[in-house]
Amino acid sequence: MLGWLQSPASIRRIGPDFAAACAKIHAQSFAHPWAPTEFESLLAGRDVVGEAAIVTSFFGERRLTGFVLSRRGADTAEMLTIAVTPALRRKGVGAALLARHLATLAAEGANSLFLEVETDNRAALALYRRFGFLEIGERKAYYRKADGIAASALVLRRDFD
Ligand SMILES: CC(C)(COP(=O)(O)OP(=O)(O)OC[C@H]1O[C@@H](n2cnc3c(N)ncnc32)[C@H](O)[C@@H]1OP(=O)(O)O)[C@@H](O)C(=O)NCCC(=O)NCCS
Repeated sequence: MLGWLQSPASIRRIGPDFAAACAKIHAQSFAHPWAPTEFESLLAGRDVVGEAAIVTSFFGERRLTGFVLSRRGADTAEMLTIAVTPALRRKGVGAALLARHLATLAAEGANSLFLEVETDNRAALALYRRFGFLEIGERKAYYRKADGIAASALVLRRDFD
């Protein structure tokens, strides 16, 4: 395990071949997991930008430690999901992913990125605020939690200069 942690993560564009790895981290991160087939079709879409942090072990095996997916429109983009392997959180993976992702989307013509985040997701909100996202709205009872209780979402936007 130490070997995985010690190898530096590289961030790269991913396609449908990473669907199973994304689905695994997503299932560890959210109450309502997306199936590998959902990731497969998203990552095959021409309008979806998927990027992941990948570490390589001493033996050359690659492992995903986090990923982010957004859908591009004409000149805006919407973040679909971002997640980091639970055991490797708070080590800068999410920030590195988001920094690269913002640069990628801006380079590909997006003027702004929108996303929705649960109002009590403190970790994600802190990450987004650190990257200059602004709150532009709220959707009441937008999510259904694992226990069936409804949770509201904030709508955030980050403009690219
Ligand atoms: C949100 C998430 C992607 C952050 O990934 P991460 O790799 O842990 O984030 P980082 O280590 O890069 O942290 C970057 C900054 O985000 C904020 N942050 C991250 N986790 C935090 C936490 N648990 N509490 C408070 N702030 C937090 C901090 O500002 C942090 O900077 P700092 O460590 O210098 O204080 C991760 O917690 C995750 O996968 N959560 C589950 C999935 C999820 O909720 N996704 C968002 C859906 S909208």
